[in-house]
Amino acid sequence: MKTVTIKGRRFRLTLPESEILQAVDRIAGRMSEELADKNPLFLAILNGSFVFAADLLRRIDVAGQVSFIRLSSYSGTDSSGDVLKVIGLTEQVNGRNVVVIEDMIDSGLTMNRLTAHLSALGAADLKVAVLFMKPEALRYDVKADYVALSIPNDFVVGYGLDYDGYGRNLRDIYTLMP
Ligand code: IMP
Ligand code: MG
Repeated sequence: MKTVTIKGRRFRLTLPESEILQAVDRIAGRMSEELADKNPLFLAILNGSFVFAADLLRRIDVAGQVSFIRLSSYSGTDSSGDVLKVIGLTEQVNGRNVVVIEDMIDSGLTMNRLTAHLSALGAADLKVAVLFMKPEALRYDVKADYVALSIPNDFVVGYGLDYDGYGRNLRDIYTLMP
């Protein structure tokens, strides 16, 4: 069993890069077909999606613009719709076919808020591509058009995902051990 220790927590290898890339290949094929001639604006969410975005976008055979945005973390309350700040969005979204690229849908709050924000900015068509979804953790209504893999409701690191900023550069996915 291969493990890594990050800040005193042990994680074990649960998903090798080769299996991730097979799943990425699958959604990239669908995206190539469905986004052809749509002149999409791909918006990858930093930091977590940087590895996924690099692998996914190089497998999508569609001409489109690629840009990166950051989201400020929401602060506990979800009663107000105004808890998510989008940082670094310089492209015009109004009238564009926007494809969000995100690492993970967990509760779905982040994606719920982000898609509402992009719709309010006038995105013509909005699609969401996500590396991982945790169906057992889902609590908000979310759009997820392209899901590479569904995983159990456990904390994972690697392939861009972090534990307190560490672990993003691990090639494979590691799961927090009890
Ligand atoms: P949500 O708003 O609850 O859907 O959370 C989504 C965000 O939480 C993702 O963009 C990740 O940054 C983070 N996240 C959720 N689960 C994990 C995990 O298992 N490992 C690392 N980050 C996670
Ligand atoms: Mg994130």
